[in-house]
Amino acid sequence: MLELREINKSFQTPEGDIEAVKNVSFRVEPGEIYGLIGLSGAGKSTLIRCINMLERPDSGKVFFEGVDLTLLSPPELRAKRQQIGMIFQHFNLFAQKTVRDNISYPLELQGKSKAEIAHRVEELLGFVELSDKVKAYPSELSGGQKQRVAIARALATSPKLLLSDEGTSALDPATSILILDLLRKTVDELKISIVMITHQMEVARRICDRIAVMEDGQIIEENTVRELFLEPKHPRTVALIRSLDEERPLSQLGAFVKANVYRLGFSGSEVARPLISELSRKFELDINLLAGDINILQDEQLGWLAVSFSEEDPAKIAEALAYLRSMNVHIKKIEAEDGEELLASQTNSIVGGR
Ligand SMILES: Nc1ncnc2c1ncn2[C@@H]1O[C@H](COP(=O)(O)OP(=O)(O)OP(=O)(O)O)[C@@H](O)[C@H]1O
Ligand SMILES: [Mg+2]
Repeated sequence: MLELREINKSFQTPEGDIEAVKNVSFRVEPGEIYGLIGLSGAGKSTLIRCINMLERPDSGKVFFEGVDLTLLSPPELRAKRQQIGMIFQHFNLFAQKTVRDNISYPLELQGKSKAEIAHRVEELLGFVELSDKVKAYPSELSGGQKQRVAIARALATSPKLLLSDEGTSALDPATSILILDLLRKTVDELKISIVMITHQMEVARRICDRIAVMEDGQIIEENTVRELFLEPKHPRTVALIRSLDEERPLSQLGAFVKANVYRLGFSGSEVARPLISELSRKFELDINLLAGDINILQDEQLGWLAVSFSEEDPAKIAEALAYLRSMNVHIKKIEAEDGEELLASQTNSIVGGR
């Protein structure tokens, strides 16, 4: 449904030319979620903007449903673009328009009748589960709700392809997951394809069918999510995945151990301390070690442990946790719920695991 062939795009700057995208080719199949992942500056946004000609490639071809978009006249391109929706990190809603008017906008441009528009807006709001917000202004919505409106607006003209540039980056982890689930539902129910950019492997892993890893303007590796995780080939891919490895046990633990799982993060001198046996003796607690690791950073060691307490008495656990806090241990209760995987990875970055 989409094929990019040997796309190149440079920018002229006073400091010289920047080759943002170098000879990139890939295909996206119908009903597929294709992820672009890579570090900042890798060329992801430039590449995705080349798909709908927001950025004109210097060379190369973009076939969308068999038509080369690079050859279209401006009016032809405008017509084709209605089949390509786009969502952004910062939602890009019209602040002075209500939810209804934001979603109506692309339909008005198409010259649809009032009745048609009203019907379609109602349908879209139902799809993104925001029917009660039809008269609200963007400033009255949460980030997740704003992105739902943006998705409804992007879907208004019934596109066959949706482009998402960091569509969940501005959202908290639990809200991100709801938006990712909505995108999955969009693909499954509306049979469209999505190309989505993220810099988080965790996001890509959760939703994408295939992932392309970008570095320095090029796709350095492309594979199904499963193969990419089983056998990453490029060091950059290995690095992007490895930063997840230590979180994986935690996210699985949440499902097995229903209560009282804590992630303890500690640094420096505490790493060497027999922290757990000390805690166990001091408070007469049975502590189960579930997982743990020590990360050697440039000039520091950071450790983490996942533990659970067999003790039922909340007061006793609270006392033990207070003691740990006094020892500069970072404590995070691990909730066995949906948003847990991302919470775990966020915890890790708060503690500074990598
Ligand atoms: N309009 C522009 N003018 C000049 N240089 C640009 C322009 N847009 C992008 N670049 C440069 O092209 C390169 C790729 O940028 P791009 O925004 O595509 O990266 P990205 O992978 O999306 O990064 P991020 O994850 O930070 O969004 C960068 O070096 C950037 O500075
Ligand atoms: Mg970008």
